[in-house]
Amino acid sequence: MGIRFDKEKEIFHLQAKNTSYVIKLLHSKYVCHMYWGRKVRDYHEPDALRFLDRAFSGNPNPEDRTFSLDTQPFEYPAYGNTDYRAPAYQIQLENGSTITDLQYKSHRITKGKPKLEGLPATYVESDEEAETLEIELEDSLIGLKVFLSYTVFENFNAVTRSVRFVNEGDKNLKILRALSTNVDFRDDEFDLLTLPGAWGRERYIERRALQSGVQSVESRRGSSSHQQNPFIALLRKDTTEDHGEVYGFNLVYSGSFLAQAEVDQFHTTRVSIGINPFDFSWQLGCGEAFQTPEVVQVYAANGLGEMSRTYHKLYRTRLCRGEHRDKERPILINNWEATYFDFNAEKIEEIASAGKELGIELFVLDDGWFGKRDDDNTSLGDWFVDRNKLPNGLEDLVGRVRKMDMQFGLWFEPEMISVESELYKKHPDWCLHVPNRTRSGSRNQLVLDYSRPEVCAAITKMVSDILASAPITYVKWDMNRNMTEIGSAALPPERQRETAHRYMLGLYGVLEEITSKFPHILFESCSGGGGRFDPGMLHYMPQTWTSDNTDAISRLKIQHGTSIVYPVSAMGAHVSDVPNHQVHRYTSLDIRGDAAMSGNLGYELDLTKLTNEEKEVVKKQVASYKEIRSLVQFGEFYRILSPFEGNETAWMFVSEDQEEAFVSYFRVLAEPQAPLKVVKLKGLDPEKQYEVVELGKTYGGDELMHIGINVPDFQGDFQSFGWCLKEVH
Ligand code: DGJ
Repeated sequence: MGIRFDKEKEIFHLQAKNTSYVIKLLHSKYVCHMYWGRKVRDYHEPDALRFLDRAFSGNPNPEDRTFSLDTQPFEYPAYGNTDYRAPAYQIQLENGSTITDLQYKSHRITKGKPKLEGLPATYVESDEEAETLEIELEDSLIGLKVFLSYTVFENFNAVTRSVRFVNEGDKNLKILRALSTNVDFRDDEFDLLTLPGAWGRERYIERRALQSGVQSVESRRGSSSHQQNPFIALLRKDTTEDHGEVYGFNLVYSGSFLAQAEVDQFHTTRVSIGINPFDFSWQLGCGEAFQTPEVVQVYAANGLGEMSRTYHKLYRTRLCRGEHRDKERPILINNWEATYFDFNAEKIEEIASAGKELGIELFVLDDGWFGKRDDDNTSLGDWFVDRNKLPNGLEDLVGRVRKMDMQFGLWFEPEMISVESELYKKHPDWCLHVPNRTRSGSRNQLVLDYSRPEVCAAITKMVSDILASAPITYVKWDMNRNMTEIGSAALPPERQRETAHRYMLGLYGVLEEITSKFPHILFESCSGGGGRFDPGMLHYMPQTWTSDNTDAISRLKIQHGTSIVYPVSAMGAHVSDVPNHQVHRYTSLDIRGDAAMSGNLGYELDLTKLTNEEKEVVKKQVASYKEIRSLVQFGEFYRILSPFEGNETAWMFVSEDQEEAFVSYFRVLAEPQAPLKVVKLKGLDPEKQYEVVELGKTYGGDELMHIGINVPDFQGDFQSFGWCLKEVH
């Protein structure tokens, strides 16, 4: 493992766990992409670059008609000097030109992985875990330096990339486009996998064959969004869950992004991802630097499942941080769907106390505790307690709940401001807006201008004061609209298009400060559910509220799709009331429990209204979840049956030592004369014997995986089971 440079051939060979990534300097100038895939011991250019005179592909050196940038694979290509494919970056000079010519200058190979200043990123705990290559490119005419960074991990099939621009010239530059990566694959025999969605229907899996031209997904919402996720993967045509090659690209960023694959005239495929160039530009004054976000590129030789497990472990252990990273997450009761805005201190205490009786560990007070927030039209920004609802204040309520031996969590929406608020009266220009234009609403609220340091400082103080005022152990950090009229009162005209990215930098700064100040607090991010489920947020907050849609059947697809990239420990999953508040479906408490127990379990209904029988069911769910919690949250995750492909869903969670496992299985609709199903398990040790605890029977791991095990003969719609497997010695 590590990074080798062959001086003579000018080839960099980057080796991650079982992966090779090869870069070559062509003519000592151009940084070419040679190979990415299964590890090879050495690279001797069996697929050496070929040079042909191709019609309508121009030649930077007119003497050499066989050399065109249009026909070679690159690591960070430009537009304008013969490459007609989508460029990775574009810079405008003071004279109006957008032509640049970056050439290799030098490189550095170091142990470990440097931090990305001000941006979330994966990290190492010791320098032995990774090596980093930094390639310095220069356009000497204008003094532009560009540094391409690559890190390979010893224990993961992952390469992370990012790019830094430095203006060392004597004229201002303007960045028009600065993507985080570019990979030119030599062919186009791929399918493209993306995770589109909507509010309440996040991260559905879509797979389509690549076609000529550009196919892209993007967000222009100022947020990674419900509608698309900053992730794309290329899959070989025959790739399945357990076989075949996959190349994943995931941007560690929570704002507007672009991810695209372009198939060109020669059937090569260019993949790139980064900050969305749409409505973006950045003034790069003399001596200034600009850092792109990081992209995490994962290669898997053995199917989508293997790719997911690489992302899961890397993100659980080397993206998420803090005291709670490796700790089991508490089972919570949240009052949102129980009360919405209509509660008082007594009601909260009753729900918390009912939760305590059932074995629940954390009470979360959701929206409505502050300002005059009796509905969603007011008070965002007024982060002080509403004494009408909580006459004795927050400290008193937290104290009472803590006395029950329950932890206490609190909801905030710190990036927003209501027009009807004291904060807005004082600072009407603190929101994103454009002079003399309408300030478009969404949930009747505006977005605070986090590109302004004084706004960030004021909000950090308000939130910190509340958190310091009572023994709060959990925070739900919500964000319930997307940006419009993106402009800042504090930026000059030529910097207006920097606002959305400056907002993200401001937000990351606030999150860094608050999470470091309160290291014992477990932070969960949320954006109307899963509107900002991305690795950027996970760097600060190890879990995310997966979706506002709490219906068990909807959750099968949502959680399955989310698991393509994100670990189970990051997914909040709650049991809620029926009929379900989002889709109005009736399902049993059992299946609601089984779906939620396949994530970070919580409850979100009025526990005081449960019948005694229902209470017994919940008590049992809570007790069994405590038994399997570390497996579910930190085990290896296997997708067995996909809700996108049929009537059944099955997942498995296997301990790293393969001594324990948990299977969850769901059948949506009953069918007449249904086939008798057998489900083949995954991830077990074929040599080991396992007891299926619920059945009181023991089988070999090989039997369970190769033959499978009978699914119970269910009757009726919406059936499920959860089975625990334990090794028998
Ligand atoms: C959206 C969240 O996703 C919900 O869980 C809840 O916290 C509401 N916001 C509160 O306004």
